[in-house]
Amino acid sequence: MKKRMAILTGGGDAPGLNAVIRAVVKTAYFQGGWEILGVKNGFDGFVDKDGVFLLSHQAVRGILPRGGTILGAANRGNPFARKIVRDGKIFIEDVSQQIIDNLIALALDVLIVVGGDGTLRIAKELFQIGVPVIGIPKTIDNDIYGTEFTFGFDTALSVATDAIDRLHTTAESHHRVMTLELMGRNAGFIALHAGLAGGADVILIPEIPFQFKTICRKVNQRVEEGADFSIIAIAEGARSIDQQQVFATKGDEVYTPRLGGIGGIVASYIENECNIESRVTVLGHLQRGGSPTPYDRWLATRFGAAAARLAMQGKFGRMVALHCEEIIDISLEEALSVTKQVNIHGDTVQTARSLGIVFGDET
Ligand code: F6P
Repeated sequence: MKKRMAILTGGGDAPGLNAVIRAVVKTAYFQGGWEILGVKNGFDGFVDKDGVFLLSHQAVRGILPRGGTILGAANRGNPFARKIVRDGKIFIEDVSQQIIDNLIALALDVLIVVGGDGTLRIAKELFQIGVPVIGIPKTIDNDIYGTEFTFGFDTALSVATDAIDRLHTTAESHHRVMTLELMGRNAGFIALHAGLAGGADVILIPEIPFQFKTICRKVNQRVEEGADFSIIAIAEGARSIDQQQVFATKGDEVYTPRLGGIGGIVASYIENECNIESRVTVLGHLQRGGSPTPYDRWLATRFGAAAARLAMQGKFGRMVALHCEEIIDISLEEALSVTKQVNIHGDTVQTARSLGIVFGDET
């Protein structure tokens, strides 16, 4: 009987997921003659009817440049806390045993889980109760510890940088301050890297709480120097020193709270307190959509191939990671021990400061 592995993509989508699926399927097929099953919509596929299907190497033809995921994703599909509606009432149930039963019924030798920290945390828990899993990190936020980059980040970065370039021309024409709110949850990588790449004047990130008056001082100082427009790149998780983060939705037992709204608050403050016309743009899910950049395809393909090799070697409970240009593997335990954030003493922040970019903590 052929060895079998299954693959699922959980959490929010990220450009490069299809490249990873393709690499896993091709490597497992060409290197080991394994049979691959695709699981639909994250862990939901194990509990939903017809949620698992045979994924042949022919089925992954042509998907390398495609955004999204052919498997579907779900960021509410936690099998340890699944939302069940029965007789019009909502129940939260642990259905992890169903997954284990299905793995046995499907004669699976290994499950490859592609996800961000939420999905990988579920993978770790499943591993701890005996499920043979291997993790592949994906997220536009780049906030997974142990890997220098996650795929999806580079594509989001290029979309964000393009947005800053476009805002520059209109900011200059109308003599305005343009604020661009970017994704990233509690990590400021997208805002920091795009802000530097796009030449923002102010970069606000969760790792460095800011003061409103410092932003005002910077944009007014630019006006005095003859630049009557400014660009602010702000991460959705940024906050002022005396306020909490701003959320668009509160969240519940199933959904995590969703950040959003700080960009509008900063833009209003500038309009009302700094005497400069101001506008906000929330880039939102455009950062997650579309075709992956060559870098993300390259990284996703390498991650997928490495994960398939680990699977065939029987090295479970591991996550593939990028370290000094090489793909290594670390334990899921280690990868999830902390959330990666911007090193505020690192070269990127230092470089930005040396170029006169303000983070809002300056005195
Ligand atoms: O983790 C990826 C991400 O895009 C975050 O940057 C953002 O905060 C969140 O997901 C948005 O989630 P949703 O797609 O559920 O709105």
